[in-house]
Amino acid sequence: MEIEVQNLRKRFGEVEALRGISFGVFPGEVFAFLGPNGAGKTTTIKILTGLIREFQGEILYRGEPFSPRILSFKRVIGVVPQHNNVDRDLTVEENLKVHCYLHGLWGKKQRERIREVLELTGLQGHLRRKADHLSGGMKRRLIIGRALLHEPQILFLDEPTVGLDPAVRRSMWDLIRGINVLKGCTVFLTTHYIEEADMLAQRVVILDAGRVVAQGRPQELKEALGRYTLEIYHRDRIEEEFFQSREEALERMRSLDVPAKVREVNLEDVFLSLTGRRIRV
Ligand SMILES: Nc1ncnc2c1ncn2[C@@H]1O[C@H](COP(=O)(O)OP(=O)(O)OP(=O)(O)O)[C@@H](O)[C@H]1O
Ligand SMILES: [Mg+2]
Repeated sequence: MEIEVQNLRKRFGEVEALRGISFGVFPGEVFAFLGPNGAGKTTTIKILTGLIREFQGEILYRGEPFSPRILSFKRVIGVVPQHNNVDRDLTVEENLKVHCYLHGLWGKKQRERIREVLELTGLQGHLRRKADHLSGGMKRRLIIGRALLHEPQILFLDEPTVGLDPAVRRSMWDLIRGINVLKGCTVFLTTHYIEEADMLAQRVVILDAGRVVAQGRPQELKEALGRYTLEIYHRDRIEEEFFQSREEALERMRSLDVPAKVREVNLEDVFLSLTGRRIRV
């Protein structure tokens, strides 16, 4: 197991941000943390990357107990925080170089790493541009590229695609898949977008108000609910019912006297059935 978390708890004064969560991340997988605002996603990433030092519970990295005081794990991980933290006054190249210096990458090795990262992120043509003048999507790419310079084996991405248009989000998905497949990097990402987790992740954890409400492969989670969703349009609300076959769903639909629609079960249905509400971004 790449990362094992047992009964992790974190309290900020009155707020219980994490109420005892347990999960594991396998080597080489894309693992997604899904949950609404305030669920505890960023808190978990901050604990796992050593930014929050006080917590309760047990964390193992590759079987070894983790402590934020052991600095060697920083070489193994790359972190893309939720909020862009590029040096806005520096160029793309300077931003990358600063990170290289921090990780002791110099000379030929530095040039090689920067070239590879630029290729992977598609930022080759923008080396001399000030980071402040990049679009939101490019800034995100720069931060992802920066996190990859020291060749981490585990990459943490906290909401990599928030605020990006649909085309840029898709290109970001390709980038994340590329990092995972070509570089063999384990990816731990958080997102509000359910279809993003469904598309990218081999396994997901659904977090709500500091608790794990479901975990597993997206397919398994969906199958546990059923195969077809019947959406029933009442005057004041939409209700969902789940069925194993399309025929059963259609039969039920014919028995109704309000409009309804049959479609395949998706991961959002799983979330909704567990928490009783839709994710709002
Ligand atoms: N430094 C802090 N001090 C006090 N409360 C905090 C702090 N950091 C987080 N919290 C609280 O802990 C809870 C979990 O926050 P967290 O940022 O982990 O959620 P999240 O799932 O990342 O949400 P979002 O989707 O909005 O990024 C929230 O109630 C938040 O207000
Ligand atoms: Mg967050």
